[in-house]
Amino acid sequence: MRASVVLENGRVSYREQGQGEVIVLLHGFCCSSESWEKVIPLLSSRYRVLAPDLRGHGQSAFPGGKVCSMDEMAEDLRQLLDSLEIEKVSLFGHSMGGYVSLAFADKYAHRLRHLALIHSTGLADTEQGKESRLDSIKTIEEQGLDVFLEGFVSKFFAPGNPEAVEVLKQRALSIGKQTSPLAAAGCLRGMRERPDRNSVLSGVKLPVLLLAGDQDRIIPKERTFSVAADHIQQAEIQGCGHSSMVEAADELTGVMIDFLSAGAPEQ
Ligand code: MLT
Repeated sequence: MRASVVLENGRVSYREQGQGEVIVLLHGFCCSSESWEKVIPLLSSRYRVLAPDLRGHGQSAFPGGKVCSMDEMAEDLRQLLDSLEIEKVSLFGHSMGGYVSLAFADKYAHRLRHLALIHSTGLADTEQGKESRLDSIKTIEEQGLDVFLEGFVSKFFAPGNPEAVEVLKQRALSIGKQTSPLAAAGCLRGMRERPDRNSVLSGVKLPVLLLAGDQDRIIPKERTFSVAADHIQQAEIQGCGHSSMVEAADELTGVMIDFLSAGAPEQ
């Protein structure tokens, strides 16, 4: 089911399916709740799955502003949960959605049962990464979002079978084109400014999952696995790029269910 609510910064659209404990799936940059379309039906037989469109993405409004920070999007999530009267969730963030999840955990860890980063990292951008954000903003502002997306989406998937990759790429492009260009540029600035939050991952008293694809060309697995502790579990999907939710949905869902079944420590 798709629904929407009006929060302080405009309308937030989300997909919801299933019953039981709440799992929140946060998509990545220039993606949307549709990016989880293969995973939602697999999880919703056991859980109540909530997948919002982040501001300016998919069908959610963009309130404007030059910078779209990870903290603002975490605040949108807090307001969405409050409006649905949901107190505690297990939070899975893909890539930029992982950065938003970390911002949420930094402030609202008491509202989490589990925290998972999917093809994401607790590290801040490197200096080179910050430079390349500026190039991406320039491309979007001078040549348009579609030109930027062509290059961006081509790095999403492990090379594998070219025909299969082309199908995934076309779907990712059609989802990406729903993003507001202003939001895309704002999110690039927001990601560029985000702090290192590996201390959040090591400090939370929750089960944490870090999942990487061995062929991820956007966030290499070394950056995903850049923090270790007893409560942090690592998982690697072989032959997978930056988007296991579409490249390896069954395998990803299996890892998620095992992780969720492991139970949270007493707090
Ligand atoms: C994403 O896929 O959400 C972004 O590419 C993450 C990033 O650029 O750091």
